[in-house]
Amino acid sequence: MQKIVILTGAGISAESGIRTFRDSGGLWEEHRVEDVATFDAWLNNPILVMDFYNQRRKQLLEVEPNAAHHALAKLEERFDVQIITQNVDDLHERAGSSKVLHLHGELKKARSTVDESLVYDVQGWELKFGDTCEKGSQLRPHIVWFGEAVPMIEPAAELSAEADIFIVIGTSLNVYPAAGLINYVPVSCMKYLVDPNASPLPGIRNLSIIREKAGTGVPELVEKLLAL
Ligand code: APR
Repeated sequence: MQKIVILTGAGISAESGIRTFRDSGGLWEEHRVEDVATFDAWLNNPILVMDFYNQRRKQLLEVEPNAAHHALAKLEERFDVQIITQNVDDLHERAGSSKVLHLHGELKKARSTVDESLVYDVQGWELKFGDTCEKGSQLRPHIVWFGEAVPMIEPAAELSAEADIFIVIGTSLNVYPAAGLINYVPVSCMKYLVDPNASPLPGIRNLSIIREKAGTGVPELVEKLLAL
């Protein structure tokens, strides 16, 4: 079975109603995301950071996967599909994708502040001060903050190197190390980029750019691949 590896970013969830980082000018409630989504912000202003993620988790309970998420799940009928997402939402899983690797963490999970291997599902939308792990320490959002290590990047790079087909959807490729994954993909591998504002990727061979929104471009691409 041919292996398709798919790198997704905020753009695939835009048509579900979740604003992308760059569309909102990188702002949330007048705060720069880079100033809220950091460990320093958590130390200096934990209430602001906790509220930032509670508000995003609350919104997640009100949105649904869109046609792009569902099309990627359908791709599993014929291919071995591995999704690598920068998104912290669970829309790929809710659409039925079975192999999803989250590079930047998961909004619906929380983890211990003394033992990062202790990860828990957040019940409902609100994580509160006083919610503790089994070792008694405060839980934090299970998110990779700016400046923190991206522990899943090694397995993501290995998966990218094994791709027969590589698809990039809805990411500005601004943030590393995620943006560097395409360089692990074999030169001979057919690559697709779905993004209405896609800019050329100099030096990347066998690349087909689809300047469409994910909700339109991804189902069309999936139908084409399923018909191969
Ligand atoms: N369909 C497809 N792509 C879209 C759509 C859409 N409907 N709407 C916007 N886009 C594209 C934009 O053109 C842009 O290239 O989605 C991309 C969104 O880029 P960003 O907002 O930078 O989001 P992303 O690339 O996922 O950011 C990467 O940066 O903020 C950090 O950790 C955060 O995971 C995030 C990382």
